[in-house]
Amino acid sequence: MKTHSIALIPGDGIGTAVTKAAWSVLETVAKQEGFALAGTTFPWSCQTYKDTGAMMPAEGIETLRGFDAILLGAVGWPAEVPDSVSLHGLLLPIRKAFVQYANMRPHRLLPGVEGPLKARDFDILCIRENTEGEYSGAGGRVHQGTDGEVAVETSIFTRMGVERILRFGFEQARKRRGKLASVTKSNAQKYSMVFWDEVTHALASEYPDVQVTSYHIDAMAARMVMAPESLDVIVASNLFGDILTDLGAAIQGGLGFAASANINPDRTAPSMFEPVHGSAPDIAHLGIANPMATIWSGALMLEHLGETSAAGRIMEALATTTAKGIGTRPGQDKTDAITAAVLSSLD
Ligand code: IPM
Ligand code: MN
Repeated sequence: MKTHSIALIPGDGIGTAVTKAAWSVLETVAKQEGFALAGTTFPWSCQTYKDTGAMMPAEGIETLRGFDAILLGAVGWPAEVPDSVSLHGLLLPIRKAFVQYANMRPHRLLPGVEGPLKARDFDILCIRENTEGEYSGAGGRVHQGTDGEVAVETSIFTRMGVERILRFGFEQARKRRGKLASVTKSNAQKYSMVFWDEVTHALASEYPDVQVTSYHIDAMAARMVMAPESLDVIVASNLFGDILTDLGAAIQGGLGFAASANINPDRTAPSMFEPVHGSAPDIAHLGIANPMATIWSGALMLEHLGETSAAGRIMEALATTTAKGIGTRPGQDKTDAITAAVLSSLD
């Protein structure tokens, strides 16, 4: 029997509950479809940081490298560990070390989910550059605590990085409805964003079958609210993609539905799958986290692993569940009840 080895990193807060829920769905669908999932749990979290002074062991990345994929819940417990420490100690280094340069985030409404918009008929795939740009981590602070303090944080855009994410965007558009929206702010940021626009323009001639349009980030934010059905694939830099995908989550009914795949397209290292949401300390002990975003991320993982039919089954089970009105509104149903409903829809 084919076996996929999966590293599970539940992380902090609601991360544990949603990962457990998604894993039960994944195991069930694997049995039904005749393949196996071998899960190994790594309890790396803010508790690990408190116990050891690091979010993961020094050999953490090398340990993960041996797996076929990673399923992550959420990282962060800001009351005890600053987010700038926890995220730079676990989530962000994995994305970079494993060259997961394409972060794919689908935004569409599951049946029965009331989004905040009149528009219902949208199906957007947001592709976020995931290894450089505004998240490069280049910078520093001097004269700390004095009036002369200086903080510098430099965005880094490389030709390799920009070209590969744009190519990925063109390829995805080709597989979908043939429309690519490339998002920058080149009217204000005259080096990096003008560069991004130029690369977009240069590549366009290689993909004559894709209709590509450049938008500014501010206009794109408005378009996602006013005319989301006009959009197919969006490609954006790391920070712009981060912001637009919370907006995407909002129009699809909330963060409880927003899934994410950190993909290494060259398959030189494992890809990582995680919900867009965070650890949600405010609701972490209430048992009401919606596991659907993580379950959907699990479906993206199976698709990446070549288990297309199993991935489709999960998406159908999610749709059947929401169509019954289960899990469609924040806080309405318990995590366990939503998971049970998804599991029973799998039969
Ligand atoms: C996301 C999150 C992370 C990001 C944070 C937690 C660092 O917001 O995955 O969208 O900005 O990438
Ligand atoms: Mn985000």
